[in-house]
Amino acid sequence: MWLSLYEPLLLFLVSLEEKITTKEDVSAVDQSNTSFPEWACQRKAKLEHLNIKLTSAIEVLQEHAELRDGNQDYSRALAFRRASSVLKALQFPVQSVEQLRGLKDIGEHVKTVIADFLDHGSSSEVEEILKSHWFRKMKLFTSVFGVGPSTAKAWIDHGWENLEDAQKNGCPSNDWRIAWGLAFWKDLNTPVCRTEALTFSQIVQQEAESILPGVITTLVGGFRRGKQEGHDVDILLSHPKEGAETDLLPKLIAALGKRGLMLIGHKEKSSFRSDVLYQDFKISTRGQLDHFEKWLGICKFPKSFSKHENSTSKCEENQNNSHSKTNSDSNLKAYASLDDSLSELYEPKAKKAKPSETTSLDPNLISAAPRDWLARRVDLIIAPYSQYYYALVGWTGSKHFNRDARLYAQKKLGLKLTSHGLYDLQKRESLSAQSEEEVFAHLNLQYVDPSDRNC
Ligand code: UTP
Ligand code: MG
Repeated sequence: MWLSLYEPLLLFLVSLEEKITTKEDVSAVDQSNTSFPEWACQRKAKLEHLNIKLTSAIEVLQEHAELRDGNQDYSRALAFRRASSVLKALQFPVQSVEQLRGLKDIGEHVKTVIADFLDHGSSSEVEEILKSHWFRKMKLFTSVFGVGPSTAKAWIDHGWENLEDAQKNGCPSNDWRIAWGLAFWKDLNTPVCRTEALTFSQIVQQEAESILPGVITTLVGGFRRGKQEGHDVDILLSHPKEGAETDLLPKLIAALGKRGLMLIGHKEKSSFRSDVLYQDFKISTRGQLDHFEKWLGICKFPKSFSKHENSTSKCEENQNNSHSKTNSDSNLKAYASLDDSLSELYEPKAKKAKPSETTSLDPNLISAAPRDWLARRVDLIIAPYSQYYYALVGWTGSKHFNRDARLYAQKKLGLKLTSHGLYDLQKRESLSAQSEEEVFAHLNLQYVDPSDRNC
């Protein structure tokens, strides 16, 4: 009785208290927003952050824009990427769009999506995209190694519905990556686990060390940023004695071949010239192509690579279920974070590369035969030591971190940053670096740990 009399008053007081708290929160946030760093390369962005659902939703919009606009116009996709990169660095979970006041990269469109999400637990725009037949087909086709948005669009224009249609129609005749990418689609779309990547990287280190003592072998890409899974394995090699790295790559490929680890690949010669240090570059879905000597291909990872010493790892579970869980399946799960790496990023622009080995082999026969290995995408990159620490920053990523740091360097400091070096455009000279810390110091930035470069 007593309670029911005073209940309305109590409720009023509670709601008033809530309002006051919210108000205080908002003003506290407003304060922190004014000191929120403008550039992504000045912020810390961890893999685990407080706004994962929102960033996953916005990254669906980003990917949709990338697929729709292709390389013609990356600005829409970039606007979404910038917004999600801000949300990743916020120190609070967003509960109201009010809290985003003053943040530069959160535009009206993104605010509407966030408001929709906060009100309904989902965004109708994102839901529409995820349901769209076109988007699902584009996702599927671009999940094939070597297929970028323009090829995927051409396949849709042919009326192809699935990967079988692509295979049936004898596609592709002129690009080894697509032929092997189609044959090994399931393997290549089963996430590579950290254990596998580390095991392979250790083997590369051992083989490289016996060819060139003192060699530096670093597992880069997402794994260096702390990811537990990735779509490929990126390994950067160098040697403190400049020039000693010449000839390392063909010998390393031969040694890995002897161990039965190589399936198919293509070796690119270094195309570095000093003018790439200050040349203009275009920001696109493909990122910025670099000029290092490298091998891009597919390796055979024995299933034992994923075994933990004592227990069955998550990695092994994935592989055992490899045909039920794939990268692209998980991408299509509502608001699952989307794989932002397009295999086309690696495409040598002018030429249609021929594989350096095993041209006569039929990928479909190899794929269908009984085997105890999984096909894995591998990049082996060779950097001369004078460029090594810039290559390390570039190949650690993330792609958005690179893009942002490069824009920041040029706009704020008049410096051209690439994976090959840092060039003072006024003084017309290169700035050398003996560590990653020195790269950041040249850029007037506080050092950002790789695990904080997940913007
Ligand atoms: P990835 O595409 O492998 O990205 O490129 P990732 O972050 O490792 O993602 P997952 O985990 O494999 O899915 C690795 C890094 O190398 C840079 C990219 O920008 C990225 O930061 N990169 C790639 C270059 O600098 N140059 C290239 O030609 C290709
Ligand atoms: Mg990678």
